[in-house]
Amino acid sequence: MSAQAQPTLLLDSRPETSEFLDDVCQGLSRQPKRLSSKYFYDSEGSKLFERICEQPEYYLTRSELTIMREHVGAMADCLGSEVLLMEFGSGSGQKTRLLLEALQAPVAYVPVEISHTALLDSVAGLAKDFPRLDMLPVCADFTQTFQTPLSRIPARRTVVYFPGSTLGNFESNHALRLLRQMRDIMGCHGGALIGIDLKKDSSLLEAAYNDAAGVTAAFTLNMLAHFNRELGADFHPGQFRHYAHYNALAGRIETYIVSTVEQKVHLDGETFSFAADEALLVEYSYKYSSQGFASLAAEAGLKVEHVWLDPAQYFSVQYLVPTST
Ligand code: AVI
Repeated sequence: MSAQAQPTLLLDSRPETSEFLDDVCQGLSRQPKRLSSKYFYDSEGSKLFERICEQPEYYLTRSELTIMREHVGAMADCLGSEVLLMEFGSGSGQKTRLLLEALQAPVAYVPVEISHTALLDSVAGLAKDFPRLDMLPVCADFTQTFQTPLSRIPARRTVVYFPGSTLGNFESNHALRLLRQMRDIMGCHGGALIGIDLKKDSSLLEAAYNDAAGVTAAFTLNMLAHFNRELGADFHPGQFRHYAHYNALAGRIETYIVSTVEQKVHLDGETFSFAADEALLVEYSYKYSSQGFASLAAEAGLKVEHVWLDPAQYFSVQYLVPTST
């Protein structure tokens, strides 16, 4: 039988523009100002993020790829055959591709991604190489509840794949909520394969978020250009700067957009004032110890079954299963 590309089904649960606008206005009205890092990722932001992953200082992607290349066979053995693989987010697809190639007879791939273009691009790429795999893309914010599509062939196990240390972008209460959501999705016999960045020397961490080529700075400031393009705001990105530092007590990189001058910004008929040097918090990137992550997982009813590390022990890929199985 010749291999044929399966038709793709797109469940579209994208948030309304009005929700986006309300959330940004609310964040700019807070004292101190604060916005979600999810607003980095319009098509320009996603391209810049791909470039961050290639920067010599940004060890995360390289380390995770090293782990995947070295241990994907062991991961596939752990996950077993006939898996429905649900990915939270859809990046370049490189790590996903390695995993799908290694899995034994996977039944479906369900990427859940807020960016319509990124979702369609990644699915189009994967569908060519995995023509027999049921591709069930969901355009949604994975932090909210969304409808889970059913695969044509029933799966033996649902595994949530969450690579890239994206869990680190959530504060512990939200990370816990996401882990619980994964626990619900996987049921009693499933699992979650998660990329977790580990605590290390602060100089290495700070370099990773302040690359010499300035790509991370451009990525951070693109959030303002994104608001101009999508919401008709009038930010002058040149009058703001990127600032990222490691807060060792909290165990996280904190990224801010800092206003270099006193200025006013208009959005949806409202005026938002910035003082000179006023900082707008746009991202946390938490770094975990193995013990710290295991404790968080336990609170969500999950236990760490396997941990794979790169030789420098900078990064980890961890397989979690429900505590009760
Ligand atoms: C997507 N996320 C895990 C990245 C991180 O490392 O927190 C986003 C990023 N922000 C700045 N550089 C990369």
